[in-house]
Amino acid sequence: MLEALDIFNNIEGMLCADTRAQYNHEKPLPFYSNPSKSIKLYQGDSLAILKKVPDCCIDMIFADPPYFGNQSGLIIKRTDGHAATFDTQKAQWAYSKSLNYQFEFHYTWLKEAQRILKQGSTIWITGTYHSIGVINVVLQDLGFKILNDIILHKRNAPPNFKGSCFRAVTETMLWAKKNSSGRTRFNYRVMKELNGGIQMKNIWEYWAEKNPFRHPATKQPIVLEYAILAGSNEGDVILDPFAGSGTTGFVAQGLNRKCIMIEIDPNYCQLIEDRLEGKYGEFSRKTKAKNEI
Ligand SMILES: C[S@@+](CC[C@H](N)C(=O)[O-])C[C@H]1O[C@@H](n2cnc3c(N)ncnc32)[C@H](O)[C@@H]1O
Repeated sequence: MLEALDIFNNIEGMLCADTRAQYNHEKPLPFYSNPSKSIKLYQGDSLAILKKVPDCCIDMIFADPPYFGNQSGLIIKRTDGHAATFDTQKAQWAYSKSLNYQFEFHYTWLKEAQRILKQGSTIWITGTYHSIGVINVVLQDLGFKILNDIILHKRNAPPNFKGSCFRAVTETMLWAKKNSSGRTRFNYRVMKELNGGIQMKNIWEYWAEKNPFRHPATKQPIVLEYAILAGSNEGDVILDPFAGSGTTGFVAQGLNRKCIMIEIDPNYCQLIEDRLEGKYGEFSRKTKAKNEI
C-alpha cells in the first residue's frame, strides 16, 4: 500500500498517468503547492481528476459538493459582515438541476471516492436538506456504511426574512465508511476528551465566524477541526474534491495533516492560495481538551 508521503509527493504523476502523452510528457502542475504546509491544489473537474487517483491511498475525504438547489440569477444582499452580496449568477455550480442529473453527478464522484479511500477510512459530506437526500441514497447504493448523520447547529444563523417557514439553523453532514468491513478509523477517545470526558453527540453547535473573503458557501473551520481530529491522524492525507475557499486545507495544515484539494473555479483557486499564504489570517485551533487549555 502507498505510504502517505509517496501518495502526496507523486500525486501529479499518478493523477495523469494515462494522459501523459496528451500533456506532451509534461507533468501537470498543481495550481498551488506549499511543501512546507503539505498542501496541493488542483484546478479542474473532480469528476475527471478523481479517476486518476490510485486505489486505497487516501486517509480521509471531506466533501462539500454543489447543492444544485439555488434559483439562478437571484442576488442576495448581505449586511452581516460577510462579503456584501451573494450573486448566485456567479455561483453557477449551485444552480438547480434535475434529480437525474444530481444522482448521476453524485454517483460519479462518490464511486471514485469509495475506490480511493483506504480500508476503514471515512468520508464526511455536507449538503443542504435538498442535496443531502440524494447523497444519502447514492451512498447506500454504492455500499458505503453510513455511520452518523451529524447535525451542524449554527447558533447565529440568520432569520427567515420572509417569515414563510421556520428559521433554518441546522445543516446535515453524513459520515460514512468506505464499506462495512474492517475497523472504522475513528479517534473516539480524542473526541470524548475534547467534549470534557463525555461521549460526543451527533449535534455540533457553534457560532459562525465572519469571513473577510468572498465565497458563498465557506464551511466554518470548527466543523473541519472536529471532522479531521475524529477521522485522521497527524501525517495522514486528506482530500477535498470541492475545495471552494479551501477551508479543508486551511485547517488540515494547522492540524499537521497533508491535504490535496480540487476546485474547478480558478478564482476560488486563487482565493485558496491567498488564504493558505496567510492573507486572511493564520489558522488558530478552536478545539482544546481540558488538559490542553
Ligand atoms: C459548497 S462549495 C465548497 C465550499 C468549501 N467547503 C469551503 O469551505 O469553502 C462547492 C465548490 O465546488 C466547486 N465545484 C463545483 N463543481 C465542481 C467540480 N465538478 N469539480 C471541482 N469543483 C467543483 C464550486 O466551484 C464550489 O467552490
